Amino acid sequence: MRPEILVLPTPAAVADALATRTATALRDILATQSRATLCLTGGSTPAPAYRQLAEADGIEWDRVHVFWGDDRAVGPDHADSNVRMAHESLLDAIALPESNVHRIEGEHGSEQAARRYEQTLMEFFGGDGVQFDVLHLGMGADGHTASLFPGSPALGEHDRWAIHTEAPPTSPIRDRVTLTFPALNRARTTFIAAHGAGKQQAFADVLEAYNGARALDDAPPVAQIQPEGSCVWLVDLELANGAL
Ligand code: 6PG
Repeated sequence: MRPEILVLPTPAAVADALATRTATALRDILATQSRATLCLTGGSTPAPAYRQLAEADGIEWDRVHVFWGDDRAVGPDHADSNVRMAHESLLDAIALPESNVHRIEGEHGSEQAARRYEQTLMEFFGGDGVQFDVLHLGMGADGHTASLFPGSPALGEHDRWAIHTEAPPTSPIRDRVTLTFPALNRARTTFIAAHGAGKQQAFADVLEAYNGARALDDAPPVAQIQPEGSCVWLVDLELANGAL
């Protein structure tokens, strides 16, 4: 199913939409399920949304389990850790039990951390396989999502759920763990949040892939996010103006 694209006026409106739509999705899920799973993203885009989500009413956080789509091979206190960002913007402000936090243990190095995370996913989701209720993703200026970068062998991984990968040389921390497309594309509700002129070309290339004007293997990695469930892009005018 082709993802929906929602154009918001400003980055703040993108953050508001991500927070409010996630809160609504979690409340709806918890109205009919005993638990809900939320897979967070890293980067700078989600932080204001996570601060707003921490203030949302009516979410029984003790029934929510939190995961990550990727992280650097660092410990949870490292300045560049996605887990640290989530604690500072969301987790430390809500009544979510520590046992409901299922992080990537990057301090063990990316290979071992990937296998430990995969084991965590298998134990949590069981035989039906990983399937997040709500998945947050972003997009880099090169069109990467999670830590699935252009040209990476990780793009072709179709068996494992979590693997070691490397960010480009320009990245301060190259050693990464990322979920793979098979794990990401089983999500029930996916939000991809991105804003700013710097991502216009990548977004334009994604739209070409959606329209069949660009082969998927010549498109930004995020174009391969085509979940079984709903998928909504939350973008601002500045990003969309150059592409839509
Ligand atoms: C990460 C994210 C990554 C991020 C993009 C966009 O761990 O950094 O998973 O995929 O979403 O790089 O980052 P910004 O939100 O900072 O533009």
